[in-house]
Amino acid sequence: MEGKFQNKVALVTGGAMGIGQATAFAFAREKAKVVIADIMAKDGEDTVRKIREAGGNAYFVKTDISQRSEIEEMVRETIGIYDRIDYAFNNVGVGVNLALTADFPEEDWDHLMNINLKGVWLCMKYEIPHMLKQGGGVIVNMSSASGLHGTPRQCAYSASKHGVLGLTKTTALEYAKSGIRVNAVCPGPIRTPGTEGYLKRDPEAEARLNATTPTGRLGLPQEIAETVLWLCSDGASYITGQSIAIDGGRSVV
Ligand SMILES: NC(=O)c1ccc[n+]([C@@H]2O[C@H](COP(=O)([O-])OP(=O)(O)OC[C@H]3O[C@@H](n4cnc5c(N)ncnc54)[C@H](O)[C@@H]3O)[C@@H](O)[C@H]2O)c1
Repeated sequence: MEGKFQNKVALVTGGAMGIGQATAFAFAREKAKVVIADIMAKDGEDTVRKIREAGGNAYFVKTDISQRSEIEEMVRETIGIYDRIDYAFNNVGVGVNLALTADFPEEDWDHLMNINLKGVWLCMKYEIPHMLKQGGGVIVNMSSASGLHGTPRQCAYSASKHGVLGLTKTTALEYAKSGIRVNAVCPGPIRTPGTEGYLKRDPEAEARLNATTPTGRLGLPQEIAETVLWLCSDGASYITGQSIAIDGGRSVV
């Protein structure tokens, strides 16, 4: 069966779990060849195995997005394996312990900014030259609902995700005439391994989130994946520099 992304190559960072994994599965379903880059080798290899068992084409490249040299190598390996990068989903991001701005530890700030903001920039720095060489490509950067509004006790997270939007808009303008589109997604609360711990620690958290979300529930990783695929598709050919909230309506209350 033909897929929407036959003969295309998709690079997904943080593809071993959660939203990244769901997006890797969705790209593979549409017949893209998928490179999964992640710091977790076992989960990354498991994800590749599942894609191959379903008849897809995927590779795992162990990558720590906090390290410039590993990002450079991730892109080099992607080109070495598949010869091109049509779509890049720069998805890796981390949270740290919650604290008020005046109490926020500097090392947490540096760690988070390094991964959530600098990591996205470095991914684009190494992806874009290949997209230019091949005549185009699509980049989707991971922001968050916290990139659209303030998030008490998460100053670095919110600042990093706002930063991703500035980076996305700027890069979109720079390469608009070169056939490269750059957009961002801003998920609200999504049920992933990353949020599961928080939901378990605070038994009332889910009820609270449900009550404050117009659709009355948390989102699913697949719901972010489908938006990322659409942004990569020709259906979104005139869309660049945008951020899309995928949040069950939370941002318009
Ligand atoms: N889940 C949510 O509610 C939500 C909401 C808004 C935004 N986001 C953003 O979506 C992205 C993915 O979130 P998720 O909930 O799927 O997370 P997750 O924790 O479930 O998965 C994150 C993946 O990234 C990988 N990773 C973490 N640090 C890495 C590093 N330094 N180098 C390479 N890989 C690394 C992990 O191993 C894991 O596979 C993040 O950027 C997050 O900020 C999530």
